[in-house]
Amino acid sequence: MAAAPEPQHSFIHHFVPGRVAGAPPLLLLHGTGGNEHDLVPLGGRLSPGSALLSPRGQVLENGMPRFFRRLAEGVFDEADVIRRAGELADFVAAARSAYDLAAPVAVGFSNGANIAAALLLLHPDVLAGAILLRAMVPLAEPPVAALASKPVLLLAGAADPIVPAANVARLADQLRTAGASVTHQTLPAGHNLTQADLDRATAWLAALPHG
Ligand code: MLT
Repeated sequence: MAAAPEPQHSFIHHFVPGRVAGAPPLLLLHGTGGNEHDLVPLGGRLSPGSALLSPRGQVLENGMPRFFRRLAEGVFDEADVIRRAGELADFVAAARSAYDLAAPVAVGFSNGANIAAALLLLHPDVLAGAILLRAMVPLAEPPVAALASKPVLLLAGAADPIVPAANVARLADQLRTAGASVTHQTLPAGHNLTQADLDRATAWLAALPHG
């Protein structure tokens, strides 16, 4: 018998079905130059048995996939952030219905963390929560979303040459103002992830109430 046709989606993506009932599905969002495969091993480590939904960013910067355009390092094209966050929100809704998923927890790194922050601020119902690894403010003046105690873990690097401490503190404020329950920690690290990131993120996910 012929296999059922794959559902059509707006984003190239990799999907790993969940194996553990109640484990939160993870929406994996890679950094600049990454792809849909990059964070799959990380997702499997952070929450074994969770469904993993991992799209590839649709913007190309010198051939490197990203989730939205930037004008320079740390200077974002905010109209594009808004547009791309909307497209990603639509993709998540379509994938949830195709794969029968609960609202996912985003795990975003760098550019992927920034689009996850934009999703939280612009489309507050899309995510059940988020782990933002080396995130920055995606929108200078976001609308005040209703994040109703949504859990967000922000992990920053004390020696991150890309993300100034004041910028990530401003993002934490924006999310708190919108009602999110934000845990913001600064690790002895640069922009790259360290073992401490994995340990903190794993413990934070394990402590989430299971659905
Ligand atoms: C960005 O969104 O541009 C990031 O914060 C930095 C990067 O992806 O290199």
